[in-house]
Amino acid sequence: MKSDVILGLQWGDEGKGKIVDYLASKYDVVARFQGGPNAGHTLEFDDIKHVLHQVPSGVFRDNTKNIIGNGVVLDPVIFRKEIDALKKFNIEPFYNLFISKRAQIILPTHRLLDAAYEKSKGDEKIGSTLRGIGPTYQDKTARIGLRVGDITMKDFKEKYEKLKGKHLSILKLHEFEHDLDPLEVEFFDALEFLKKFKLVDTDYLINQSLAAHESVLAEGAQGSLLDIDFGSYPFVTSSSTTCAGVCTGLGLAPSKIGQVYGVFKAYCTRVGEGPFPTELLDEVGEKLRKEGHEFGATTGRPRRCGWIDLPALKYAIMLNGVTQLAIMKADVLDTFDEINVCTHYKLKNGTLTDALPFDLCNEDITPIHKTLKGWNVDITDITDYRSLPSELIEYIVFLEEELKVPINIISVGPNRVQTIFKNNNFR
Ligand code: GDP
Ligand code: IMO
Ligand code: MG
Repeated sequence: MKSDVILGLQWGDEGKGKIVDYLASKYDVVARFQGGPNAGHTLEFDDIKHVLHQVPSGVFRDNTKNIIGNGVVLDPVIFRKEIDALKKFNIEPFYNLFISKRAQIILPTHRLLDAAYEKSKGDEKIGSTLRGIGPTYQDKTARIGLRVGDITMKDFKEKYEKLKGKHLSILKLHEFEHDLDPLEVEFFDALEFLKKFKLVDTDYLINQSLAAHESVLAEGAQGSLLDIDFGSYPFVTSSSTTCAGVCTGLGLAPSKIGQVYGVFKAYCTRVGEGPFPTELLDEVGEKLRKEGHEFGATTGRPRRCGWIDLPALKYAIMLNGVTQLAIMKADVLDTFDEINVCTHYKLKNGTLTDALPFDLCNEDITPIHKTLKGWNVDITDITDYRSLPSELIEYIVFLEEELKVPINIISVGPNRVQTIFKNNNFR
């Protein structure tokens, strides 16, 4: 067997959580491969909305194993809160949640460092979620980080104090005021809680699952345009959000990658700073934000909104080897008379291109749009592809022709049931 992958093709918040939750019933294993509590994955069913940050979105499916892979950075305090929130719904993932011993731990001082670094950047801040993601990955690559497997070792406290000392000296340099004591109390409590879970070699577990013909779905966080290598650097996150991250973040060989589902919104959003060529700073952008309830699932910040960006989507599809697409939030466009699609960028020197320029941050880009007719129909109750309005089908067919990948999933609302498959013979 091979592992299928679901990942975001834009700047995050495409609706990955909804699709993973939906498809999880068809998989034996769901595994998060990167990111951490900067992610906020929303799942809606039975009139309840859940937001998951680190726990994989397969957790609501009884027979699905859930893995937090080695590529993840785990905050034990947020983890505990997530598990407590799940308990209210009688979900106790002590048996079906497996955490990699190799996953890096986010310390309270990592969060403080994140805040200190952002503050020192002033106007050039990234707009980080301030969850300590960057500093934790920094320590991982500096080879001084602490891993989940370390917490059961005798010398953990010693290692912790050593790293904390390093962090405190940086915080001092930044003259960053903080009150670490209460944060440490909840951190050490949360570590004891974490020890009750299955802390294992998930690299072996996942490969053994595939060898035993179990189906595996890898769940991405963030989006391709936030990738540390290929995103709009430096306005990116600190992990590999693309398909390559599945291999390093779970211990899967490239030959073990199967279907790659690319998830994208019918328009485009971004939260935090950084370039966004198709951003709409007018009433149309405001309408997208209002209709799409575009406020961050992790930080509550308003998301920036704009039209769909084909050069960026084509780039993401290329990087990930996407085999199938899921278009999300099509219903948000229900009341728009016209829908614009950015097909090309016009650069300052007059060149037209559908490739992403190296210096997206400083390049003066004018998006070139093609205008399509809106459908002006409420599609939220439609359950089969053939019943969709012809203008929406035209939009989908146009995107498929441009992107050269089939759009097999059409999402028409936040609820699990508001999901349409073009081909019923899926999997
Ligand atoms: P993720 O991070 O990719 O999992 O996405 P988020 O959960 O951060 O953001 C997606 C938001 O859109 C959530 O509030 C979802 O409930 C919502 N959503 C997902 N699919 C649809 C859809 O098809 N229509 C509408 N209206 N909302 C959707
Ligand atoms: P999901 O998985 C949207 C953005 C932040 C910031 C930048 C760096 O829900 O799609 P970080 O905290 O990682 O240092 O922030 O990346 N960002 C996200 N934007 N969705 C996410 O995750 C994000 N995770 C990080 O807003 O601009
Ligand atoms: Mg999100």
